[in-house]
Amino acid sequence: MTAHFNDAPEREATAQRAREKFIETYGYEPDGVWSAPGRVNIIGEHVDYQAGLCVPMAISHRCYVAAARTPENTVRMRSLQSEETFSGDAREFAPGKVEGWPAYVAGCVWAVASRLGGDAPRGVDILVDGYVPLGSGLSSSASLECGVVAALNDLMSLGMDEKEQVEAAIRAENEFCGANTGGLDQSASVRCREGGALLLDCADFTTSPLPWNLETEDLALLIVDTRAEHSHVTGEYADRRAASEAAADACGVKTLREVADAEQPSDLRAWCAEKIGDETVAHRGFHVISEIARVKEFVELLGKGELRPRLARIGQLLNESHDSLRDNYEVTCPELDTAVDAAREAGAHGARMTGGGFGGSAIALVEAEKVTEVADAIAAAFAAKGFKEPAFFVALPSAGAGRDL
Ligand code: GLA
Repeated sequence: MTAHFNDAPEREATAQRAREKFIETYGYEPDGVWSAPGRVNIIGEHVDYQAGLCVPMAISHRCYVAAARTPENTVRMRSLQSEETFSGDAREFAPGKVEGWPAYVAGCVWAVASRLGGDAPRGVDILVDGYVPLGSGLSSSASLECGVVAALNDLMSLGMDEKEQVEAAIRAENEFCGANTGGLDQSASVRCREGGALLLDCADFTTSPLPWNLETEDLALLIVDTRAEHSHVTGEYADRRAASEAAADACGVKTLREVADAEQPSDLRAWCAEKIGDETVAHRGFHVISEIARVKEFVELLGKGELRPRLARIGQLLNESHDSLRDNYEVTCPELDTAVDAAREAGAHGARMTGGGFGGSAIALVEAEKVTEVADAIAAAFAAKGFKEPAFFVALPSAGAGRDL
């Protein structure tokens, strides 16, 4: 079984293409082109909304936004990935009033409106060209939001720093689109840097760079898009978030980060069972607390220099993270588990799901020379189970949101 690789298109040429498509659509030159990346979260899953720690990196698949400000209040949008175009009055944008992909763009215009003077025109023409596969768990929506916010920030001279841009994108997603996600994705899309990973502390959304230079150590991070689609707007994601809040309540803390930062009981699982009571809620709480501990150890290992001498434990932490998401948090699915099992059997140092789960993508830390072998093994395991053919790529840590043209 030969694996299908889905590499990202070259950045400069793609930005130029967005510019040309804008001209084709609106009949004039855009003011500029901006783009923002998707992300993988290397470790620290389902902890952001409990003030936890995450280690994301940006991928080279980006969403490109060609845009121009207009002297009106009309917002016009077109996406090269959709048949549907949109035109609406920005003064009428309100949560729940816009649907589908245009809601993510309208939400950004809505989220920054308070920064504009009362009568200042809010109109923009926007052309979107997104390469983060939709529903892949690689933050296609955050890449769209953060690309649009970067464009609006420049076009409307809003003077937002990176943290404020992240906040605007989060408001667009949470309040306008009604997806109550935790801020990891937008933070990663704006604040990641080329060539490294990011330590994101969701207690105050501060970040610091982390070394993650796999190439020089002949290692690679293989991404597997399982093509099992997921959505966070409803259902299971909200349910897990609510369970983690119930666990925090039972522990008498505002967030489970407080428990993770306190001295750990010798048997955390038993401690959670006793303190939290409800069995399912105790499992959810145990995941969050133990995942934060894993991130702390992971960050410590990365800080020690070369990965290779510490590879066994690094891989094990990735594996433990997945196993906890499967058994305690119950957010994996047969496709994710199959990808992870096949990667491990084919010699990956560690493998886990990444993102919200219930579909989406998995990552595997592998020897660079084994990328194709591991991908082929995963593709074969999918074929044997009759799953959709997965897509693969090798993720290099890429730059956060910014202006291209
Ligand atoms: C999704 C959400 C994030 C985060 C992850 C799980 O990607 O958008 O906020 O909660 O799931 O770590």
